[in-house]
Amino acid sequence: MLPCVVFCLVLCITTNVTRAANILVFMPLPIKSHVRGFQPLFEELSNRGHNVTVVSSFPLDRPVANYTDIGPFVDKTRGRNVMDLVSMNFVTSVQLKWRISIQLSEMVMSHRKMKQFVQSSSNSFDLIMVETFGQEYAVAMGHKFNAPVINLAPAMIWASISKWLHVPSTFSYIPDACTQSTSDMGFIERLKNSITGFMQLYVENYLYLPKTKEVMDTYLKYRGWESRPPLEHMLNNISLTLVNSHNAIGISRAYLPGIIEVGGMHIKDPKPLPKNLQTFLDTANEGVIFFSFGTLVNLNDLPKAKLKVFISVLGRLKQKVIIKWIPDDNNVKLSQNIMTGSWFPQRDILAHPNVILFITHGGLHSLEETVCNAKPIVGIPFFAEQNFNMKIVEEKGYGKLVNFFEITEESFGNAIEEVLSNVTFKEKAIIQSLVYKDQPMKPLDRAVYWVEYVIRYGGAGHLKSDSIGLNDLQYFLFDISLIVLLSFGLIAWLCYFLFVKIMS
Ligand SMILES: *[C@@H]1O[C@H](CO)[C@@H](O)[C@H](O)[C@H]1NC(C)=O
Ligand SMILES: *[C@@H]1O[C@H](CO)[C@@H](O)[C@H](O)[C@H]1NC(C)=O
Ligand SMILES: *[C@@H]1O[C@H](CO)[C@@H](O)[C@H](O)[C@H]1NC(C)=O
Ligand SMILES: *[C@@H]1O[C@H](CO)[C@@H](O)[C@H](O)[C@H]1NC(C)=O
Repeated sequence: MLPCVVFCLVLCITTNVTRAANILVFMPLPIKSHVRGFQPLFEELSNRGHNVTVVSSFPLDRPVANYTDIGPFVDKTRGRNVMDLVSMNFVTSVQLKWRISIQLSEMVMSHRKMKQFVQSSSNSFDLIMVETFGQEYAVAMGHKFNAPVINLAPAMIWASISKWLHVPSTFSYIPDACTQSTSDMGFIERLKNSITGFMQLYVENYLYLPKTKEVMDTYLKYRGWESRPPLEHMLNNISLTLVNSHNAIGISRAYLPGIIEVGGMHIKDPKPLPKNLQTFLDTANEGVIFFSFGTLVNLNDLPKAKLKVFISVLGRLKQKVIIKWIPDDNNVKLSQNIMTGSWFPQRDILAHPNVILFITHGGLHSLEETVCNAKPIVGIPFFAEQNFNMKIVEEKGYGKLVNFFEITEESFGNAIEEVLSNVTFKEKAIIQSLVYKDQPMKPLDRAVYWVEYVIRYGGAGHLKSDSIGLNDLQYFLFDISLIVLLSFGLIAWLCYFLFVKIMS
C-alpha cells in the first residue's frame, strides 16, 4: 500500500499533474473586500477541475460549476457608519482590530448555518484555505479535515500574522498599517512602529489570543476536536501564505519561500463598456476624472459641507467627471460635466485612455487597478490601511493625499490641479505600471500554481521557516549574546586584575 502511495506521489510531482482536489475556503467574516480579492482564485481553481467549497458571507452573483457557496452568515447587514472607524491612532487601531475580530467571529460562528456546517461530518477536503484577518481559530479546520492549510492575507502581512510563520517583521523598515508611515521612518515613527509591533508580537498573546481560543473551543466542536493540537502549533504549521500585495503598490521586504505575493488577482482584461459610458468617455476632449470611494463609503453619509466641496470643485472643471454616487437629495443641482451612478465598471473605466485622473479612498484593490492602468491619483483616505496606502503612493510619486477632515475647496482643487498639470505624477504612474506588469507569471496564475503545488505535495511543510521550533531567546541569539557579553566582561576584568597586579 505505502509503496503504491509513494509511487503515485512521485509520479504526480514529477509530471506536474495535479489531481482534482476538494478544496475548502473558510473566510466567513463579513468583510467584502477581503473575499472579493481572492474570489477570482476560487473561480479559477474550479475552472481547472477542482471542487471548491467557499464558506463566506458573499456568495457569487452567478453560479459557477464545481463552486459551492455556503453562507452568508449575517442575517442583516448592519450599516456600519464608517465614521466610527476613522481617526484611530497607532495603539487604538491595534486594539480595535482585536475587538472587531472577536465580535465578528462570534457573530458568524454562532450562526445557524455555520453550526450546521461545523457539525456535519458528511464532507471531506484535501486542502483548506483560511483568511488571516482576525480568524486565527479557523486554522482548526485543517485539523477537522486532516488537511494542509493555506493562509489568505488580504493585505501585506502584519506582525500578528508573520510571527506564526517566522517571517521577519523588522520594525525599523517594515511599517505597520496602523502607524501610517512608509518604510522611510524617522525616530518617532520607528518608536511608534515598534510599539505597534510589540503589541502584536507579545501583548496580543495575553489580551487577544485567549479570546480567539475561546471562540475556537466554543464553536469548533466537531467529532474528534478533543485531540486538537494547541492553536499556536497549528498556526506554526501553515503550508503557504498568499498575500494580496505587490512591491509596486506596497513595500519591498524580506519574505520566506512559502510567502507568495499575488496582489492584483482580481484584475481581468478590460471588457467593453456599456454604450452610454463608452460615448461619454470617447467624447471627452479634455479628459475624464473618475471619482469613487469604493463600496463602503457612501457619499450621502458624509457631512454635507464636505460633499459640497467635492461637488462644487468637480463642477467647475473643464474635464468630464464620473462620480460613483446616487444623490439622496433630489434638489441637488449637478453641473453638466458630471455623470453619476450607483455602480461603475471601475477597472474598465480606468483602462480608457481618456481617463486622466482617479480620485479614490485609497483602498488596496483600487490602487492595484490604478497602478495597472498607469493613472495618477488624488487619494482621500478614511480608515483601515487607506491612509497607509496613500502615504506609500505619495512616496512613490504617482499621487497626492488630501486629508478629508481638513479638506476645503482650495486644498481639494489644488491637489487636482497639481496632479493634472505636473507631468511627474503621470510619469511615475507609468513607471509603477511597468514594474507591476513585468512579472514572469500573472498574479492569478501564480496563485493557482502555488495552491496546486501544496495539493501535489499534500502540504508543503518544506516551505516553512526552519526557525519554527526555536523560541525567541534562541532565535534572537539572546543566550549567545549573554555568553559573549559575559566573556568580554571576564576578559576586561582579567586585564584589569593583571594590570593592577603588575602596577603594584
Ligand atoms: C466538476 O467536477 C467533476 C468531478 O471532479 C468533473 O467530472 C467535472 O468535469 C467538473 N466540471 C467542470 C465544469 O469542471
Ligand atoms: C463538491 O463539493 C460539494 C460541497 O462541499 C459536495 O457536496 C460534493 O459532494 C463535492 N463533489 C465531489 C465530487 O467531491
Ligand atoms: C501539520 O500539517 C500536516 C499536514 O500539512 C499534518 O499532517 C500535521 O498533523 C500538522 N501538525 C500540527 C501540529 O498541526
Ligand atoms: C512636479 O512634482 C515634483 C514632485 O512632487 C516636483 O519635484 C516638481 O518640482 C514639480 N514640478 C513643477 C513644475 O511644479
